[in-house]
Amino acid sequence: MPHYKTQLKNEAATDALGRCLARQLVPGLVIYLHGDLGAGKTALTRALLHAAGYEGHVKSPTYTLAEPYEVQLSGQTVTIMHFDLYRMTSPEEFLEAGFRDVFNHSTICVVEWPENGDGVLPAPDLEVFLTVAGTGRHVELRALSEKGSACLNQLNFAPNL
Ligand SMILES: Nc1ncnc2c1ncn2[C@@H]1O[C@H](COP(=O)(O)OP(=O)(O)OP(=O)(O)O)[C@@H](O)[C@H]1O
Ligand SMILES: [Mg+2]
Repeated sequence: MPHYKTQLKNEAATDALGRCLARQLVPGLVIYLHGDLGAGKTALTRALLHAAGYEGHVKSPTYTLAEPYEVQLSGQTVTIMHFDLYRMTSPEEFLEAGFRDVFNHSTICVVEWPENGDGVLPAPDLEVFLTVAGTGRHVELRALSEKGSACLNQLNFAPNL
């Protein structure tokens, strides 16, 4: 499975990665975003959503656990669900909210704090690991499925160009 690491020296590089990821979105894709508080998970998601064509404000879904965004992908309306499970306190909360059904063939799911969904959260196609490195960030991307591999193989991200 493909695996890719690089530096994101500033927020513009995070934005650029978000734009590259947006071009590889396909219905049903599940992306986990790992990283400490302030690592840039929401910043990356915001860049991805804006590049996918969402023009409104992208807030952190910390209190609602999930926020839906509708975008057009190849002429099709697709929902991108942005999860932030930081404040999730039990697996029941995830199940009772009906979140299992959001992981289907059409909805794209981007999940911050996936560790908190252990046991109830469906598996990802792609995992992104963000860590603070000096004034910038280090990022690692790993594919975990054929869908994720296709996405990573075509990513074409060159942050320093
Ligand atoms: N490559 C980068 N280099 C330096 N700063 C960055 C970079 N990318 C994003 N940032 C900054 O880091 C912060 C990231 O905040 P963000 O809310 O995205 O973190 P988060 O990982 O979602 O945290 P939380 O777990 O609290 O939701 C923002 O202030 C953003 O401007
Ligand atoms: Mg966040």
